[in-house]
Amino acid sequence: MPVAIVTGGASGIGLALVKHLLSNGWKVTIADMNATAGTKIASELGSSAYFHETDVSSWDSQASLFRTTFEKFKSIDFVAANAGIDDRQSLYEDVYEMVGDTQVPVKPNLKTLEVDLNGPIYGLWLAIFYFRRNPGGKKGKVVITSSNAGLYPFPTNPQYAACKHGIVGLVRSVAPVFIKEDITVNCICPAFVETNLAPKNLVKAMPREHVTPMSTVIKAFQSFIDDDTLTGQAAECSLGDVFYRPVLEYPNESERWMFEESSKIWEDGYE
Ligand SMILES: NC(=O)c1ccc[n+]([C@@H]2O[C@H](COP(=O)([O-])OP(=O)(O)OC[C@H]3O[C@@H](n4cnc5c(N)ncnc54)[C@H](O)[C@@H]3O)[C@@H](O)[C@H]2O)c1
Repeated sequence: MPVAIVTGGASGIGLALVKHLLSNGWKVTIADMNATAGTKIASELGSSAYFHETDVSSWDSQASLFRTTFEKFKSIDFVAANAGIDDRQSLYEDVYEMVGDTQVPVKPNLKTLEVDLNGPIYGLWLAIFYFRRNPGGKKGKVVITSSNAGLYPFPTNPQYAACKHGIVGLVRSVAPVFIKEDITVNCICPAFVETNLAPKNLVKAMPREHVTPMSTVIKAFQSFIDDDTLTGQAAECSLGDVFYRPVLEYPNESERWMFEESSKIWEDGYE
């Protein structure tokens, strides 16, 4: 039985993926910081589901998640780095504290970056480590949950948008290197899906014709599981369709040369 780790697996997209994988014969570690929901869900889903309380923004917590999963199931074949949160601090507010009679700026809360960007990078780093140690040289696949806000501007949640754009850049950058070890790295970019992420009043206000069904998101995950040639992809999931988005076109020949023909100069330079 293949083994998966799904972060943010106690709700929404992660939970739907957990159920999908279990119904297709996987063993799944559900990783989430919500221990109450995670424990309950794992006990309801049967013996192939295992819950590990995890804060993806913590290196120690994710390291423990991967180590425990590998010890328990003896391999790790698929990692969905899916846990994510929205902005915890508006970048538009005028936030200050008084020192004497002087207004001084307050350090911004960057928790979103710790969860949505550091979290997947820790997950990728750990996934590669354990894939290389799978029995029989069997390698693995990573899918990170980005967003359609990783492809377009999103003024209400700019930190979130920065992280999700970062994920697209990350998978496109590492995929050509890891494919040499038969490891694929992709991301999904869902449009609006009804989950516990957005405030309840927003979910209620969203016109139904603009809500993407969970089945489209699962279709994108499954495509990455099925197709070993898909890597470095950003799969935009909107309504019933999955669009594998191309990188931007080059504006001139120099930019094409920079990204397609100058690799030796960069590799030698950073050696
Ligand atoms: N719902 C959407 O419309 C939508 C669209 C695009 C992308 N996404 C992305 O999908 C992913 C899943 O979100 P969702 O919509 O299913 O939301 P959700 O809130 O229903 O589920 C997120 C889960 O992640 C967990 N979580 C939060 N912080 C965590 C942390 N530090 N460590 C471990 N677990 C943590 C939560 O407890 C929760 O169970 C996120 O990365 C989100 O940005 C969602």
